[in-house]
Amino acid sequence: MKAGFNIEDAVRKRYSVRNYSDREIGLDTRKEIEEFIGTLDNPFGNNIDFHFLDGDEMKGQQKLGTYGVIKGAKQYIGTTIKLDDMALLALGYEFEALVLYLAHMDIGTCWLGGTFDRKGFAEAMNVKEGELFPVITPYGYAAEKKHIKEKAMRKVINADKRKSWKELFFSDDFNTPLKEEDAGELAFPLEMVRQGPSASNKQPWRIVLSDKDAHFYEDREPGYSDRFPYDIQRVDMGIAAAHFDLAAKEKGITGHFDTKADPGIQLPENMEYVFSWIRD
Ligand SMILES: Cc1cc2nc3c(=O)[nH]c(=O)nc-3n(C[C@H](O)[C@H](O)[C@H](O)COP(=O)(O)O)c2cc1C
Repeated sequence: MKAGFNIEDAVRKRYSVRNYSDREIGLDTRKEIEEFIGTLDNPFGNNIDFHFLDGDEMKGQQKLGTYGVIKGAKQYIGTTIKLDDMALLALGYEFEALVLYLAHMDIGTCWLGGTFDRKGFAEAMNVKEGELFPVITPYGYAAEKKHIKEKAMRKVINADKRKSWKELFFSDDFNTPLKEEDAGELAFPLEMVRQGPSASNKQPWRIVLSDKDAHFYEDREPGYSDRFPYDIQRVDMGIAAAHFDLAAKEKGITGHFDTKADPGIQLPENMEYVFSWIRD
């Protein structure tokens, strides 16, 4: 898909909003959001179902918890998928495209994979047996100030920081860091990946450029995903794919994704090949 809005602006504007104002999203805007969701697709093929939870459905749902992390939110969007190898990538891609679209509309969001009452929301959204319900986001206008717990949380996970180029991007192998000035026109899509959100801000994406193709790896943290029914860092990899793809398309750089183009280079411990972006 092509975004239809300025990617860099949206990427730079987006941050996790955990305190929401009373101002509700109007019906027209809600319709625009639904229409945008209707245009979503992803390079990994799987179908993602989006669910809205707002208005009347939220009445009587006061018990729906986010453990005090999110305040003031009245509207949520969740997703369901059938779990397989590609589904978490597809989910990360489409959900992040939506998050960026909402940022472009000045609407705040916060990816939630852990700090919400999964069972309560699943019931409220009529999630069916056999479907995996991995993430949810509140959406709405940000309150003027961040709440105290929100500020503390951002501090603990260093939410305003990102890893440097030399920690994330490499040339031909994992021993040779890629310099920004050597990345050519791919410097922009790479920088957009670097700015992306990730679970606990762990930024597990690593990218090796080789012959102008980009190979994406997951630096999986041992034990981190044990408390989830799936590998949540795989979702982060889908986010990286979205940022890279939308940024490349905006600049007219053409390529396609391939999950079977593993160049077979030697990997550091805990590193896993996930997919490649092959220049056309
Ligand atoms: C897959 C995923 C899951 C996340 N789960 C949570 C969560 O459960 N609770 C929360 O408060 N933030 C969650 N976050 C938000 C991250 O902590 C946040 O994106 C990161 O710290 C960077 O901060 P920023 O989004 O403000 O740039 C999640 C983010 C991602 C991508």
